[in-house]
Amino acid sequence: MKTKSIWGNPPTRLYKLINIAKKDWNTNFSACIVGCSDGKFLLPFARAHIKVTGYDIDDVALYGGTKDFPIIKEKKKYSYSPTFKSKEFALESKKVLGVIERLEIENISEYAKIEKRDFYRNLPKEKFNVVFTSCSLHYSANQDFTLEDKTQKLQSIVLPNGYLYIDYMMAIDENDYKTYPKFKFYRKKEILNYFNDDWEILSFRENNNPSFEGAHVDCVRDHFHKFGYILARRIK
Ligand SMILES: C[S@@+](CC[C@H](N)C(=O)[O-])C[C@H]1O[C@@H](n2cnc3c(N)ncnc32)[C@H](O)[C@@H]1O
Repeated sequence: MKTKSIWGNPPTRLYKLINIAKKDWNTNFSACIVGCSDGKFLLPFARAHIKVTGYDIDDVALYGGTKDFPIIKEKKKYSYSPTFKSKEFALESKKVLGVIERLEIENISEYAKIEKRDFYRNLPKEKFNVVFTSCSLHYSANQDFTLEDKTQKLQSIVLPNGYLYIDYMMAIDENDYKTYPKFKFYRKKEILNYFNDDWEILSFRENNNPSFEGAHVDCVRDHFHKFGYILARRIK
C-alpha cells in the first residue's frame, strides 16, 4: 500500500536526480536525506531499492504521532505583495504516520536507515553518493551555524564523484536582515561562493519572484517563499 507524506508529493526534480545517479551506479549507491521528515524525499529512493539514510530531529516525523493542521474551508491563492497579511487559521490535531511506519507499511524498511540526529551539530562519519536536503537549513534549530558552515557540512558527507542537491530559502527583501536573517536566508547567488573547485555545478536556479504557499502543518498563515535550488558534483 502506498502512503503519503504530510508535505505532499516530491517534485519531478527528485526523480531526475535519482535517474542521474542511476546512470552512474544503477541502484548500487547510497543516498542520504538530511531533514527527512516523514519521508517525502526518502521513500522514492527506498521504493527504487536504493539504500537510503534519513536524519531528522522531529520525533513525530520520525516515529508518528499528532501534528497541528490549519482548518482551511476554501483554498485561495494570492499574488505577492510586500504588505500581504494572511488571516490566522484555527488548528486541528491529526494523527500522522512517521517515516518509520511509512517504510514498514510499504514493506521497504530494509532499504532505509533512519536516525534521530541533529545533523549540523553532530555530523555523521558516513559519506554517501547522493546527499539531498530540502528546506531544512533555515530551521531555528540551526541558527548557531552560518549558511556557509551548513553548506560545507552537507558537502563534507558527499563521496568522490557524488552529488549534492540543496533546495533552499532566499530572502524576499535582500536588505531586510530582520525578517530574513542571514543565517537562514541566502542572498542572490550567495550559495555559489560556498562551492570551491572541488565541485562542478550541474544545475542552479534561483526564482526571481516569491511563490505562494498556503498555511500548512505547524503554520497558521498563508505566506510566500523565494526558493533556490542547486545540484553539484564533487569532482575532486
Ligand atoms: C520542512 S521539512 C521538509 C519538508 C519538505 N522538504 C518540503 O519541502 O515539503 C524539513 C525537515 O528538516 C528537519 N531539520 C531541520 N534541521 C535539522 C537538523 N539540524 N538535523 C536534522 N533534521 C533537521 C526538520 O525537523 C524538518 O522535518
